[in-house]
Amino acid sequence: MAKPYFVTTAISYPNGRPHIGHAYEAIATDVIARFHRLTGQDVYFMTGTDEHGLKMAQTARGQGKGPRALADEMSAYFKEMDESLDVSFDRFIRTTEPEHYAAAQALWKAMEASGDVYLGRYEGWYSVRDEAFYDEKELIDGEGGDRLSPQGTPVEWTVEESWFFRLSAYEKRLLDLYESNPNFVQPDSRRNEVMSFVRGGLSDLSISRTSFDWGVPVPDSPGHVMYVWVDALANYLTGAGYPENPVRWPADLHVIGKDIVRFHAVYWPAFLMAAGLELPRQVFAHGFLLNRGEKMSKSIGNVVDPLDLAKAFGVDALRYFLLREVPFGQDGSYSAEAIVTRTNAELANSFGNLAQRVLSMIAKNLDGELPAAGEAGDDRALLDRVTSACAKEVPQAFADLAFSQGIESWMQGVFACNQYVDAQAPWALRKTDPERMKAVLGTLFHCLRDLTIAISPVIPTSAARLLDALGIDAAARDHAALADAGWYERLRASGFRLAPPTPIFPRLDPVEAA
Ligand code: MSP
Repeated sequence: MAKPYFVTTAISYPNGRPHIGHAYEAIATDVIARFHRLTGQDVYFMTGTDEHGLKMAQTARGQGKGPRALADEMSAYFKEMDESLDVSFDRFIRTTEPEHYAAAQALWKAMEASGDVYLGRYEGWYSVRDEAFYDEKELIDGEGGDRLSPQGTPVEWTVEESWFFRLSAYEKRLLDLYESNPNFVQPDSRRNEVMSFVRGGLSDLSISRTSFDWGVPVPDSPGHVMYVWVDALANYLTGAGYPENPVRWPADLHVIGKDIVRFHAVYWPAFLMAAGLELPRQVFAHGFLLNRGEKMSKSIGNVVDPLDLAKAFGVDALRYFLLREVPFGQDGSYSAEAIVTRTNAELANSFGNLAQRVLSMIAKNLDGELPAAGEAGDDRALLDRVTSACAKEVPQAFADLAFSQGIESWMQGVFACNQYVDAQAPWALRKTDPERMKAVLGTLFHCLRDLTIAISPVIPTSAARLLDALGIDAAARDHAALADAGWYERLRASGFRLAPPTPIFPRLDPVEAA
């Protein structure tokens, strides 16, 4: 039976429309999901929206509507964004679903059973924007003398009756976890940050609110709703089938942004330890996407709708750019010019042109009939180079979430093909040595198929179109197919004829696009 692989994104606050930062996380996680499907794993990929809490309640009030109406409206945009960007989620979860209430309440009861949940009174600082409690010592001074959260957001003094979670009792267990399993939080920079936060001492955490009611009710505690992060984190369990049938738990990977590491790498494992549940295998925090190096914000007016970018440049170009340009785990910058430059240089000129040249020569010169691959030293050297990129280097890098590095290896394979084309000059061989021309084109066809399969998690639609054109069966586009030595001879023997190709990667016009 296929090995299960459960991967999640963070669930976004639907208090506004999605922006490119949300799209980045969804796309990167989609590449992970698609990559693991290629390896034959039984992937379950979950994303969704985090609909409770004060931020949602206040935004809705400001717009003169109920929080449920705001959530319904905005959550639909997140789902639409995912669908438009080819994000192949298996489940889009909304925390307002009854099934999620049941899971969050079951988690609560399991935590309570540990004896580490007690009733008290919260007096301290709260940031609605971050939906987070902060210690006095963490606050910073704002320009006007206001106290701000470490993220620079306003905080308010809050006093109310509240349930607490005895987080302070988990310090040692958490530190043991990071020490014994260095992969639990990655990249290392984030792991170090988390470890020093925990070493600095943990206060108990307020986990319920009484001053508003937009949340999951605390079991047997009228007037209390769960702190939105308890409810939000529980979404991963809901998706796993908890509490009835948690067959998918634990998650293999939670992909999140660097601003919410504390919740996932400190609170979440502590909640799960209290509840006696297994921990996720890894939390990976990606960096922030900046607009031309600047933070995106509504007040600067530089918030970009990802669907506008996809419309202007194409979904696959946007996906390719984001994974190629930004080393995963670091912050990155995007701009229309950078997307155009990357797409034109790599997808249109290098890869697209290679495919177009090879396929049109086969269609035109050989009437679409596939020639045998070459057996000469040059041919073998190219095949070895491309096979090693596609079957080893790219998969290894993708498995390590080093996407930009994996794509670089892929590009090296593409370059090797282009050098080979230039050196062999099949257009000249047509007159001087037609048999050699055939061998060269056969070798290149072979390489094209491998390169297309290897990059398909990143550019799924273009890859599928190209593989259709190449006559590759939909069931033979995975890593097992890459390892299958006989595929090319079988395809040739099947009588498949290549049709004259249509270009897959149009060159983008820099002026129009900017
Ligand atoms: N609702 C919480 C997450 C709960 S998970 C149990 C939340 N929502 S969010 O809408 O603010 O952010 C959703 C995800 O988008 C987070 O992982 C966050 O880091 C990511 N990003 C938000 N802005 C971003 C960028 N500018 N760049 C990259 N990712 C960004 O936090």
